[in-house]
Amino acid sequence: MCGIVGYIGSKRAQDILLSGLKRLEYRGYDSAGICILEDQDIKVIKSKGNLDVLVTKVDQQTIGTQGIGHTRWATHGKPSDENSHPHMSTNGKFCLVHNGIIENYNELKADLKEKGFIFLSETDSEVVANLFEALDDGNLLTTARKVTAQLEGSYALCVLNKENTDEFLVVRKDSPLVVGVGEGENFIASDIPAILEYTKKIYILDDDEMALIKRDAVEIYDKSGDRITKKLREITWTLESAEKQGYEHFMLKEINEQPEAIRKTLAGRIKNDMVDLGLNMEEEYVKAINKIAIVACGTANYAGRVAAHLIEDKLRIPVLVSYASEFRYNNPIIDEKTLTIVISQSGETADTLAGLREAKSRGAKIVAVTNVVESSVAREADYVIYTHAGPEIAVASTKAYSTQIAALYLLLMELGQIRGSLEDETIKLWVKEMLAIPEKIQTILGNCELFKGFAENIKDSSSLFFIGRGVDSVSCLEGALKLKEISYIHAEAYPAGELKHGTLALITDNVPVIAVATNGLMLDKIISNIEEVKTRGAITYGVAFEDEQKIKEEVDYFIPIPRVVDAIAPLLAVVPLQLLAYYTSVVKGNDVDKPRNLAKSVTVE
Ligand code: M6R
Repeated sequence: MCGIVGYIGSKRAQDILLSGLKRLEYRGYDSAGICILEDQDIKVIKSKGNLDVLVTKVDQQTIGTQGIGHTRWATHGKPSDENSHPHMSTNGKFCLVHNGIIENYNELKADLKEKGFIFLSETDSEVVANLFEALDDGNLLTTARKVTAQLEGSYALCVLNKENTDEFLVVRKDSPLVVGVGEGENFIASDIPAILEYTKKIYILDDDEMALIKRDAVEIYDKSGDRITKKLREITWTLESAEKQGYEHFMLKEINEQPEAIRKTLAGRIKNDMVDLGLNMEEEYVKAINKIAIVACGTANYAGRVAAHLIEDKLRIPVLVSYASEFRYNNPIIDEKTLTIVISQSGETADTLAGLREAKSRGAKIVAVTNVVESSVAREADYVIYTHAGPEIAVASTKAYSTQIAALYLLLMELGQIRGSLEDETIKLWVKEMLAIPEKIQTILGNCELFKGFAENIKDSSSLFFIGRGVDSVSCLEGALKLKEISYIHAEAYPAGELKHGTLALITDNVPVIAVATNGLMLDKIISNIEEVKTRGAITYGVAFEDEQKIKEEVDYFIPIPRVVDAIAPLLAVVPLQLLAYYTSVVKGNDVDKPRNLAKSVTVE
């Protein structure tokens, strides 16, 4: 994910910027750059690749004491020298770094181009640099206010004005930014670890706040331009805990990042309450699709299975979901009318990549759903939907799963729009419900104490069962995988109605059974299945909508989730299962982020 560092003081800025960016390396990036202001001259050095590449390019003679730096994790435009930050405005007066996504950048860019502004990159961020020049009124603060009034989307911006060697400006909306206060020097960063080595005194900027950063002062302004006083915080975290933003593990951090990550997946893709993924698929082709193949591994495969339920139910297109490791050996029935959806967080999973190539060789068009820009999967696909979840560091996938589901829902709505198989009213309802998902996930996250208790209950179990009907049985697959992966407890996911065909023999006294019950049409069925296991001595847990009284009364432990239309319930149902797995791993003293025998990215067959 992109990182920002800025410095103004009396020391050599480039040393501080490079060491700050180094501290942000753990977040992942594909290019980096710095810009130093020295005697009203702006020096920009940027490069695709890691910081070591950048270091070979910096001029050791540069002694400027004011500058900004950036590590980029590509979103708009591939990783390249040109797309790296900082970006300059056309006349070279403004130079900036940006985190976030400017959703209306295409419109702004077209307008600026007409006015003669020059663009050297494919990024949304360069548009902002040129907007500063276009709206420049000689005052950085008021210019910035005019600029931000035109921006839609999220941003943390740090802007240098070549003619002003005494200050720079920062502003944020929906993207974090902190100001570090020193003696005769001040710092800014997207993340505390970048500057923790230099200061522990931090202002945390809130949305729409702006600040002028000077050598001996930090002036903070609210949205209406009034100067405000903020609480200066003393950070007591160690560097390691700061990288995890105070969370004990990356997995917990990533579970908690899901509301924000889903917002980013949706950002810029909903226009007038309808979906616009910008894939430019030909209508004739979309209407001719007679089958969908979904190819992925592990958690990504389960995200695909969730989407498959809805695609078959609502679009009435048959879907074949395959484990990528099996797909190419099964002589799959694929042709040019089979849309193949390949899902991979890393975009580098060897089996998934091989599946993509197999489908392509049989004439199918490929849509990739991936988190990593310019990954192999992204490069080889015909169409790409980036999940924009930010780097996932824990081996156990969490925010990748929920953002993959969100991206797949957008895709199925777009296909439904084009094929005319989904009513506009249905799409508008789902879009509205999807936009409310982040807040609803936040509600579940607020209840995490509940899961610490459940983890204590199940930690010594030798086996556990997850049961559900319909799409809930897919959430069960993901819940069981998470639990196995990090708590090392054997778990099985079962379509609840299947238990009686054999597996019920394993349900005896005190075996935990977790029922996921969001499927309104199958409620009575799952209640009967819960009865079946209870009479065999199981201890039952039920994940269901908070007002689902019948489930609440049926199970031993009720796990409420906020109500949402059934179609998109898997986005909520998985969160309690992630938390249960996480806390069970913690109470067992396991290495949560790096479970035994597993790797984050599986690049071998
Ligand atoms: O990077 P990918 O999405 O292609 O990875 C696929 C699986 O290896 C991955 O989802 C794995 O199952 C997770 N560790 C599960 O938490």
